[in-house]
Amino acid sequence: MSDWHPYSWRTFPALQQPDWPSPEALAATCKNLTRYPPLVFAGEVRSLKEHLAKVALGEAFLLQGGDCAESFNDFTANSIRDKLRVLLQMAVILTHGIAKPVIKVGRIAGQFAKPRSSPMETQNGVSLPSFRGESVNDPAFTEEARVPDPLRLERAYFQSASTLNLLRAFTHGGFANLHRVHTWNQDFVANSPQGQRYAHLADELTNTLDFMRAIGLNSMNSPMLKEVEYFTSHEALLLEYEASLTRQDSLTGDYYDCSAHMIWIGERTRQPDGAHVEFLRGVKNPLGVKIGPKASVDDLLRLCDKLSPDNEPGRLTFIGRFGHDQIAKAFPPLVQGIIKEGRTIVWSCDPMHGNTYSAPSGHKTRALDHIVGELRQFFEILQAENVWPGGVHFELTGDNVTECVGGSHDIREEHLIERYETTCDPRLNAAQSLDVAFLVAEALRSFQSK
Ligand code: PEP
Ligand code: CO
Repeated sequence: MSDWHPYSWRTFPALQQPDWPSPEALAATCKNLTRYPPLVFAGEVRSLKEHLAKVALGEAFLLQGGDCAESFNDFTANSIRDKLRVLLQMAVILTHGIAKPVIKVGRIAGQFAKPRSSPMETQNGVSLPSFRGESVNDPAFTEEARVPDPLRLERAYFQSASTLNLLRAFTHGGFANLHRVHTWNQDFVANSPQGQRYAHLADELTNTLDFMRAIGLNSMNSPMLKEVEYFTSHEALLLEYEASLTRQDSLTGDYYDCSAHMIWIGERTRQPDGAHVEFLRGVKNPLGVKIGPKASVDDLLRLCDKLSPDNEPGRLTFIGRFGHDQIAKAFPPLVQGIIKEGRTIVWSCDPMHGNTYSAPSGHKTRALDHIVGELRQFFEILQAENVWPGGVHFELTGDNVTECVGGSHDIREEHLIERYETTCDPRLNAAQSLDVAFLVAEALRSFQSK
């Protein structure tokens, strides 16, 4: 790949890049970032790619989820712990349901930059530049707050490092020990129907662990019982940031974007001739591309040619985000086109981004019925083509927020105002996340039995 280097994208059209007021200040920040330690290591990234290769071959399942946008404000040990534990709970539900490994990938430790449909936001007749994620500007609706500030990139880097540090401690230091499966049920979820259903499953698992201990398998001699492999991911939107954290692996000579294990590009920046695809094609990380209802088979094949020319399993994940009312029409021809050309893809379903609407109060929300509707259709469409539904991708949080409507707690549009805390898109709360995990487990079980 002699024509690629971490900055070769600069000669391609780059959409969704902030209008930084001072190119010198941006360059100074990026210079610092190029000297700072990598956040993740090439060996870990290779391990994720091996797991995703199993997903591509139908032997494992990908669970990806976290905030729409991480925030500088909501940066506490508890919030990191709670996001981890809701994902661990979902993974237990799924592993139990499908009896295959579940690959856990957080939208965390780097998910700070947002693409926007409109460069300006208008409130009460006042127009200001849109909020582009906290690594660019501030969500407050004032002129000052919306000026892009490159120092925020460094702050995002350090927050990512600190978040990863705690995640590594939690996943290897005892918190993720399967013997603690009961303690992952959060107080406000414990008495809900989903919480009780989870507790029942945790009882079953505890009995199994007792049995295993009796025959000599315990967390001392079987580390997989006490440690969890947990990976990070985010949208590779700000190319100066991603390029600054790209490192050449001393072992293989290959380039890795060391800002996260997996990176993806969004529906708005996936042009096959654009800067984002140019950047992605040269790094060895597993890659995701969001795919909306306007994507054509030709778009997907061009993306495959650029991003996965060797058709390596695990390299490329297409993350469909069609909407519950579009997927039936838009998705089947894409799957058929990819099968026809013999491409190996992980198919994942993001049932969030095609299902956003505004409630009468003005809050952006998503209905659990629509989310579930898109997921069910995703499984049915792939089943009809005999293709393994590789994974799911959610915006969620461990907190007791009221941002999406529906679910066993019956959150309605009039409740949205109570705890609407996201700085960008509406997230599933912990109880809704369990609801959805049980549903996916059931759908996958019936997939396997057909
Ligand atoms: C996102 O994942 O937050 C996002 C903006 O998604 P999409 O590119 O699919 O709209
Ligand atoms: Co979002």
